[in-house]
Amino acid sequence: MLKAADFGSDFLWGVATAATQIEGASNSYGKGMSIWDIFSKRTGKVKNGHQPVNACDFYHQYKSDIALVKTLGFKVFRFSISWSRILPLGKGLVNEEGISFYHHVIDECLVQGIIPYVTLYHWDLPEELSKNGGWTSYSINSEFNEFVMLCARTYGDKVKNWIVINEPFGFTSLGYMLGVHAPGETGLTNFFSAVKHTAIAQADGGRILRAEVGKANIGTTFSCSEIIPYTQSDADILAAKRIDCLMNRLFVEPTLGMGFPTADWDVLEKFTVSHSTWRHNERMTFDFDFIGLQNYFPLVVKFNAFIPVIQAWEVKAKSRRKPHTAMGWEINADSFHNIIKQFAAYPIKNIMITENGAAFKDVLKDGKVMDEDRIAYFKLYLSALLKAKNEGINITGYMAWTLMDNFEWAEGYHARFGLVHNDFKTQQRTIKDSGFWWKDFLTK
Ligand code: NOJ
Repeated sequence: MLKAADFGSDFLWGVATAATQIEGASNSYGKGMSIWDIFSKRTGKVKNGHQPVNACDFYHQYKSDIALVKTLGFKVFRFSISWSRILPLGKGLVNEEGISFYHHVIDECLVQGIIPYVTLYHWDLPEELSKNGGWTSYSINSEFNEFVMLCARTYGDKVKNWIVINEPFGFTSLGYMLGVHAPGETGLTNFFSAVKHTAIAQADGGRILRAEVGKANIGTTFSCSEIIPYTQSDADILAAKRIDCLMNRLFVEPTLGMGFPTADWDVLEKFTVSHSTWRHNERMTFDFDFIGLQNYFPLVVKFNAFIPVIQAWEVKAKSRRKPHTAMGWEINADSFHNIIKQFAAYPIKNIMITENGAAFKDVLKDGKVMDEDRIAYFKLYLSALLKAKNEGINITGYMAWTLMDNFEWAEGYHARFGLVHNDFKTQQRTIKDSGFWWKDFLTK
């Protein structure tokens, strides 16, 4: 039977969240608008027109929510700072109420013996900065640095564990290429421009934290998925390689000083030449103390001539008749093991799993949520993690996504990933069976 002790006594177990997804109070206490506040108001952008206005009301319930983290047995609470809550216009004017809110959250963690892991950017760009192009604009780098500096100087005495950016590929691709996330921009030109500035911001952020925060433990996180060609045809194998360059290699390689993976996909070379500063590899490089990997599913891809430039398309788990979650994401723990191994081949000092979890169609009945499917998911994925660790990979922690059901971006409140059920009308929290499973796993 799987035991937490098998991972070692100093292995860090945590639970992860993000500001927009849980806080609420999106338009009060001096907070400025973020791109998600605006985007979610646009018709058809978020399922059922859901908006993150109230989310889980963490803004008012943070004390009892942090107590829940403790009840479930976790040592680490990962949350993010909303940029527009502390800098309503993205730069300049500071909102003191926002500043004290995060002081309260951090202090509460420390009082309860929970280690805060603070993410600086979890997708909620201040709207004011987006008006000038956001991540596609040259000025974003100095604006981001101002935000990082403020956070480091304000909270650096109390917070030692920092994550600069959450899933750079996630928000640049969904928000600037496909237009399905905020700010809803499309096209490869926008995308590659956002990629360049994000890669620079990530390393700049690391440097600022290193300079400003004594004894800081600095990381950043990457989404990753094993990419599997649908068939062994040359066309499918090459399609899988292109997607691997985009989804798994695009950000980690510049961080490690390797530049963009142009040798394996010439299109990237074309875009890098058109963005001459991409050549400034040094500025995109930073020696992170840990790299956070976030994995949920593998991707099976096949060649598709109709998709411009990328010429690849996903073959969904459902059509392949594979077990999947409510998001349609394939449940495949071997692929979790494989992608960890793929990243472990890089010269990375320390890997943490900073997100992993699953959405299912939970039912709250008689005060209980019997989410056996989620428990089974965690058991499978944790076994794969242990296997990777036992093979000698330096994995030092795992954070489950997520503490409680929350605002799942374009899926609104439909997709429930929590270990704790949330009733969005009453803000009543109910620990699911999976939450109790974690409690037993971590405390018995
Ligand atoms: C990635 C993101 O970081 C997080 O915000 C999101 O809710 C989960 N994965 C699940 O989609």
